[in-house]
Amino acid sequence: MQISLLFFLSIIFSLLFSLPIHSFPTSSKLEQRTFIISVNHHVKPSIFPTHFHWYQASLDSLSSHPPKQVLHTYDTVFHGFSAQLTNADADILSKQFHILSLIPEQVRSLHTTRSPLFLGLEPSSTNTSSLLEESDFGSDLVIGVIDTGIWPEHPSFKDRGLNAIPPKWRGFCPSDFPCNKKIIGAKFFFEGYEATNGKMNGSTEFHSARDSDGHGTHTASIAAGRYVFPADTLGYAKGVAAGMAPKARLAVYKVCWTSGCYDSDILKAFDEAVKDGVDVISLSVGGVVVPYYLDSIAIAAFRAVQSGVFVSASAGNGGPGGSSVTNVAPWVTTVGAGSIDRDFPADVVLGNGRRVSGVSVYRGPDGLEPGKLYPLVYAGSREGGGGGGQGYSASLCLEGSLDPNMVRGKIVLCDRGINSRVAKGEVVKEAGGVGMILANAVFDGEGLVADCHVVPATSVGAANGDVIRRYIADNLKRSAMPVATIVFRGTRVGVRPAPVVAAFSARGPNPETPEILKPDLIAPGLNILASWTKRVGPSGLITDRRRAEFNILSGTSMACPHVSGLAALLKAAHPDWSPAAIRSALMTTAYTLDNQGATMRDESTGNESTVMDFGAGHVHPQKAMDPGLVYDLTTYDYIDFLCNSNYTTSNIELIAPKKANCQGAKRAGHVGNLNYPSISYVFVQYGQHKMSSHSIRIATNVGDPNSVYRVKIVPPTGTNVTVEPEQLSFRRIGQKLNFLVRVQVEAIPLSAGSSNTRSGAIIWSDGKHTVTSPLVVTMQQPL
Ligand SMILES: *[C@@H]1O[C@H](CO)[C@@H](O)[C@H](O)[C@H]1NC(C)=O
Ligand SMILES: *[C@@H]1O[C@H](CO)[C@@H](O)[C@H](O)[C@H]1NC(C)=O
Ligand SMILES: *[C@@H]1O[C@H](CO)[C@@H](O)[C@H](O)[C@H]1NC(C)=O
Ligand SMILES: *[C@@H]1O[C@H](CO)[C@@H](O)[C@H](O)[C@H]1NC(C)=O
Ligand SMILES: *[C@@H]1O[C@H](CO)[C@@H](O)[C@H](O)[C@H]1NC(C)=O
Repeated sequence: MQISLLFFLSIIFSLLFSLPIHSFPTSSKLEQRTFIISVNHHVKPSIFPTHFHWYQASLDSLSSHPPKQVLHTYDTVFHGFSAQLTNADADILSKQFHILSLIPEQVRSLHTTRSPLFLGLEPSSTNTSSLLEESDFGSDLVIGVIDTGIWPEHPSFKDRGLNAIPPKWRGFCPSDFPCNKKIIGAKFFFEGYEATNGKMNGSTEFHSARDSDGHGTHTASIAAGRYVFPADTLGYAKGVAAGMAPKARLAVYKVCWTSGCYDSDILKAFDEAVKDGVDVISLSVGGVVVPYYLDSIAIAAFRAVQSGVFVSASAGNGGPGGSSVTNVAPWVTTVGAGSIDRDFPADVVLGNGRRVSGVSVYRGPDGLEPGKLYPLVYAGSREGGGGGGQGYSASLCLEGSLDPNMVRGKIVLCDRGINSRVAKGEVVKEAGGVGMILANAVFDGEGLVADCHVVPATSVGAANGDVIRRYIADNLKRSAMPVATIVFRGTRVGVRPAPVVAAFSARGPNPETPEILKPDLIAPGLNILASWTKRVGPSGLITDRRRAEFNILSGTSMACPHVSGLAALLKAAHPDWSPAAIRSALMTTAYTLDNQGATMRDESTGNESTVMDFGAGHVHPQKAMDPGLVYDLTTYDYIDFLCNSNYTTSNIELIAPKKANCQGAKRAGHVGNLNYPSISYVFVQYGQHKMSSHSIRIATNVGDPNSVYRVKIVPPTGTNVTVEPEQLSFRRIGQKLNFLVRVQVEAIPLSAGSSNTRSGAIIWSDGKHTVTSPLVVTMQQPL
């Protein structure tokens, strides 16, 4: 009471005395940025009718000109508001007693491999640090898709045959948006976006949940699209298109606009989605990994999970480099991308008769004459290897870099990087080129993504790119004209090996908590056919006049909604399962062998992939329905985890709204004791020869009432692993039994600052169910 009164007086005081005084220079617009402000919402003085009024008064007390405006207020997954502030304003606000913390906003990007289009960024070759079944299942479940909106008239979103909207649904649709029994919510959040970018351009963006980009329509249809037959993209991938949970309802929360997705809007979307009563949140968006208490997505996801909402998020497309995984909070299900057994071969035939394999979904209107060889040019070799600026940008086929006199009538070899893959085709086309070969940089390895290019084009791997460059150079040396053509071979199915881990799929180790293996699992994310907006052509380029009902895209963005849809199916089948139980079922039943019976390969190298690439493995929908055992987790477990991460109480309270009592938790041990479906140990070699660690796991029986599980241990090479007890005898469903895993390791020779990872598994089986947890041992040599 005392405090509220003081606060009240201070507001009055500032309102009275602060009007015309310019005590410090008014900060320029440029110095402002958006902060997400966490507030102790219990202490709202009664003079303010709503929290909004209170928050706005806090901003008014800054007496800035023009006055600061509340962008969004949050009251479900977070308590507080967002606003644009200068650092000085932020300082002043942070001193007000009710303000807990100010979190600077991050701009996020979509996790398609097209995202360069969105933000103009793609890891370049020179800067690898990265510029960065129809069943009734699912029919009462609501999947919230936080993305670029939706194209509501698409046949994938028809509501024929669907029951009434589930009565628990509290969301709504604006009267001017064509919702139905399939799309039952359509909200959009732009305040944070406009605060930074200014008013959106109404001629390029829809000021509604309608999708002008295509990404949101694509991801929503992967999660919950109806059966559509026939479906194809420009004749490719003909067949039935269907989402994972074809009868689940969709609630659309549009937060991504042409220049990105802003945290303040994303947080509002989470807030509304949880209030509306979604069951699953699908988020194919990500940014930079920061500690969980500074990450608004992690904070929002914590409260969503606490409310029983399953949150799946894309791992990111920063692969194949290590430690590139994002959206790593242990309460979020982090999804990487794998291939399916379908591809779109399009070979390059060189003048010397050599055939180089590539992939493409190019289909008209312009074509290459069959059998004819065209002159082939590589702008990067023009200056004889001098590599001047112009030569470099031309080798990448950047806008305006190609000399029409050089490329007219020719096929142009372009290197991947900087601008988007389809944009390079546009540059070639505008300069008069007849075709394009897109070569991976060393960084991209042999990973290939099929694109709907606007010019006849194909993508080749880094090694094949070298073959073509060498062919060109050899001919030029002999003053001969290098020639080539592209042969488009359509859709090929039954590809082996499959799945493989997509080259771009972001990899572990988890940069924030290496003791929690991330990504959790992989799902299909390479060359995925799904619904598309009518607003733009399949290449996404403004100049692309083609329209397609379906489009083929790649990215962990496409993998994530597969898991979102599956989670909805699992929740429909097991309404009492927590988000952690659902994730456990998905992870412990995942597989790691491809369709040739070998460990899944890494697309970028062709070598075997590891747990750092695929986590627990590739999702197996059927098996996930009946996992036998699950490793469950509650809010309290996550709070213990945060305590054991050595976060301060105030940092923990930013994430978890309950009073955190870390005394008990710290006694419980270490972060590795979080009851996670994977087990990961990190040993730092400080001179000891032998080291050991242990962790506790609690298995919950969700299989048969009387079942006896026996353990099989696959120790990582050179380690000793024991499990106690070696048998778990369950007498009823829901019963929980503990076991202890002990690992002994020996120091290994490592150079300073380097690390080595080995993996094995703990496998429980009752003869009917197989419950597999990856067991990972990482040795680190300190610097
Ligand atoms: C390249 O990476 C470095 C960090 O290694 C970073 O400082 C720099 O800004 C990056 N360059 C570009 C063009 O993003
Ligand atoms: C909006 O976008 C269109 C198409 O790109 C462009 O022609 C127009 O100038 C833009 N308007 C504003 C105000 O930026
Ligand atoms: C792939 O495997 C080969 C043969 O084992 C090895 O020489 C090569 O270094 C591996 N490549 C990578 C990138 O790990
Ligand atoms: C937390 O602090 C304790 C004691 O200093 C330390 O042993 C432990 O490794 C720390 N945990 C993490 C995750 O940093
Ligand atoms: C594993 O156990 C064997 C037999 O007890 C022992 O010789 C070996 O040193 C142990 N290895 C490690 C890594 O502790």
